[in-house]
Amino acid sequence: MTIDLAALPEDFLWGTATSAYQIEGAVAEDGRSPSIWDTFSHTPGKIDNGDHGDVACDHYHRWREDIGLMRRLGTNAYRLSIAWPRVVPGGDGAVNAKGLDFYDALIDGLLEAGITPSVTLYHWDLPQVLQDRGGWPVRDTAHHLASYAAVVAERLGDRVRHWTTLNEPLCSAWIGHLEGRMAPGLTDLTAAVRASYHLLLGHGLAAQAIRAAAPGAQVGIVNNLSTVHAATDRPEDLDAARRMDGHTNRWWLDPVHGRGFPADMREVYGVELPEQPGDSETIAQPLDWLGLNYYMPATVADDPTGLAPRVRPVPRLGVPRTGMDWEVDASGMERLLLRLTHDYGARKLYVTENGSAYPDVVRPDGTIHDPERTEYLEQHLAACASAVRQGAPLAGYFAWSLLDNFEWAYGYDKRFGLVHVDYKTQKRTVKGSGRRYADIIRTHAERGRSAA
Ligand code: FCB
Repeated sequence: MTIDLAALPEDFLWGTATSAYQIEGAVAEDGRSPSIWDTFSHTPGKIDNGDHGDVACDHYHRWREDIGLMRRLGTNAYRLSIAWPRVVPGGDGAVNAKGLDFYDALIDGLLEAGITPSVTLYHWDLPQVLQDRGGWPVRDTAHHLASYAAVVAERLGDRVRHWTTLNEPLCSAWIGHLEGRMAPGLTDLTAAVRASYHLLLGHGLAAQAIRAAAPGAQVGIVNNLSTVHAATDRPEDLDAARRMDGHTNRWWLDPVHGRGFPADMREVYGVELPEQPGDSETIAQPLDWLGLNYYMPATVADDPTGLAPRVRPVPRLGVPRTGMDWEVDASGMERLLLRLTHDYGARKLYVTENGSAYPDVVRPDGTIHDPERTEYLEQHLAACASAVRQGAPLAGYFAWSLLDNFEWAYGYDKRFGLVHVDYKTQKRTVKGSGRRYADIIRTHAERGRSAA
């Protein structure tokens, strides 16, 4: 399809995104300690096929080649995450110089290639030692995040401007502590609510620490948000949609914008928050930008017997789905970008993740033709341009993901990459979608922001 990208700014960041545990491997090298994901992935029955991140894409050794792939795609930005257990293996205290050296060299490599690094400090890989001391349900963990953030910002802040405190705290809190499908695998509402609180407190403390260590840093937070639809217009389902919106969107957005934790959701959870004087202000640090990870909308019905927020998903008929069984609906992304603009007054926005998994077939000639992923990409880029035309201050798009990688509880079967990885040989092959992305980026640059 032809996409009209004229609305996108000339200095738009065209990026790809990854995260440390999903690609690095080398889990026991150069002083890295185990994270909660090492523990979780090695717990029988937690991950499809018994997969784990021990080797993953071996990016720890192949990062130069991977920067080469970014150059081939023509991207000018890259969103990566730092592994806390590489940098501060004890969770707090002593810094592991080798861990920092790895990221130092990676950042230099990116800058030499003309690629702007966007660094996420916490993409779910809490040092296991901190989990052993209580993890996110415990307040100290928020302070440890800030100390670790200071260490990283002091070392990299002379070259890195874009900083993210947390990636998708929703997943850490709700999926990790309530649903138990992600590390640390708890199913405890009180722990989940306390974790959510301390994650956002940690965000605020880390934002302060980054700014103190690296003046001029552009600090943001990345949330995975969804548009929420009620399955029917029965009052019970409309109320379920309100709760789902609170659980998925408002609980994460309101406190960081100085609005406090939503009163209706406090009631839904019925768990006392571990609040202390001054916390609300700490959590509501000024944000230079907001990151949106968008994959799919949610349609829900009331489910009085379910877990908080007591909703059940209802599939919408006739809507196409990805290999994750996630609905494809780019209009949801457009609406969320506009909601962040109008309801939350975002000064700057990035789509920090967006992408799709489909089962890929490697043809006999070694190529990968992935028209569905390509179409998903095109539709969502068109939605970006449309949101910009309506006033959204969108400054960049990061495709999830550069590489096929360890897709958490789904292991390696679900492939989100613009670049295919053969896990036996670690051979990388740019897919059709990757070539199309390169073509779109090139056209946007060459034609001075016209149609691609
Ligand atoms: C997001 C995660 C990312 C990746 C994508 C598919 O929730 O941030 O690590 O797994 O989903």
